[in-house]
Amino acid sequence: MKVPQIDLLRQYNSMKDDIDGNIAEVFSSGAFVMGKWIKEIEEKVSGLMGARRGIGVASGTDALDLAMMACDVGPGDEVITSPFSFVSVAEVAIRMGAKPVFVDIDPKTFNMIPEQVEAAINDKTKAIVPVHIYGQSVDMDPMMEAAGRKGIPVIEDAAQAIGSRYKDKPVGSIGHLACLSFYPTKNLGCYGDGGMVLTNDDELGNKVSALRKHGQVEKYKYKYIGINSRLDSIQAAILLAKAKKIEAWNDRRRSVASMYNEKLADLPVETPYAADFAYHIYHQYTLKARNRDGLQKFLGEKGVGTAIHYPLGLHLQEAYEPLGHKLGDFPNCDEAATKVISLPMFPEITDEEVDYICGAIREFYANA
Ligand SMILES: Cc1ncc(COP(=O)(O)O)c(C=O)c1O
Repeated sequence: MKVPQIDLLRQYNSMKDDIDGNIAEVFSSGAFVMGKWIKEIEEKVSGLMGARRGIGVASGTDALDLAMMACDVGPGDEVITSPFSFVSVAEVAIRMGAKPVFVDIDPKTFNMIPEQVEAAINDKTKAIVPVHIYGQSVDMDPMMEAAGRKGIPVIEDAAQAIGSRYKDKPVGSIGHLACLSFYPTKNLGCYGDGGMVLTNDDELGNKVSALRKHGQVEKYKYKYIGINSRLDSIQAAILLAKAKKIEAWNDRRRSVASMYNEKLADLPVETPYAADFAYHIYHQYTLKARNRDGLQKFLGEKGVGTAIHYPLGLHLQEAYEPLGHKLGDFPNCDEAATKVISLPMFPEITDEEVDYICGAIREFYANA
């Protein structure tokens, strides 16, 4: 049996007519940039995530870029974030002239430790960017309280967490701004690049909306130095077809995670920990495994695709050497990088495939 880590074609084939129909409508409308599709998907996604405003942009990375621009992050500033994540937050902070300040992660949830965030805040802190990694919410209350005491904006990186919740609130509606990615492998993905900024703050919303189109507030009136970062109509139309299904897909991800949890319970792997406050949507189903590299190789031989999110903390990446970090600065992150492995996870995976994968993992440890 062959099971890829993610299979985008199964999803496309299951809703081809809807998606193709929407794309055909965009082509015949002639409205390729902005227009009704963008407005509709902005309303749909912001509604789903409990935020007043949604601003469609060209990628998740651009969403972070625009959010930091809206918060006036600049030279001399610091941005607190996680070293155990995709590179975008750190990259964007540095491109703004600011310094990413990493704090360690909780070894069970892989999310930033709120007490360490509070300890890292100083007069230079211009933004805090918690990342809801793998689809599980960061513990937001202590984060918001610490930021609130100092008047520092919180930008949620919810790229992996569309539909996830913290207590009774959807993630993306808690911070001052939130950033989403619609990269194809995301749990709500388009067929190219796309992203969105969410906010409940009209002033910030207006600013991001202007910044994404060159800082323009009226035709040829530029209030800010902006960029060109718009979600295009074809991607918006694809997302509109898919957004109808996101809740059902997230439910299925949660059932698949339960199946994995049950079948792997007695094996020498640590199954994902779901905090009481979290409605985890399992963008990734990521284990900590003994002999992770051996397991990955064995699963590959059995036809099972896996991925390592992430093999090296950002603080140890070559590009980030000027920050002066070394192995051991963030021990939980360093440990996670050697142990994590993400199993196949997508809503269309079958129960039989989950059985097969768990059987293969059992076989590996039986012979290890
Ligand atoms: C946590 C996180 N932040 C930001 C991004 C950047 O999103 P994009 O690839 O759409 O630029 C990603 C996705 O790759 C991500 O996983």
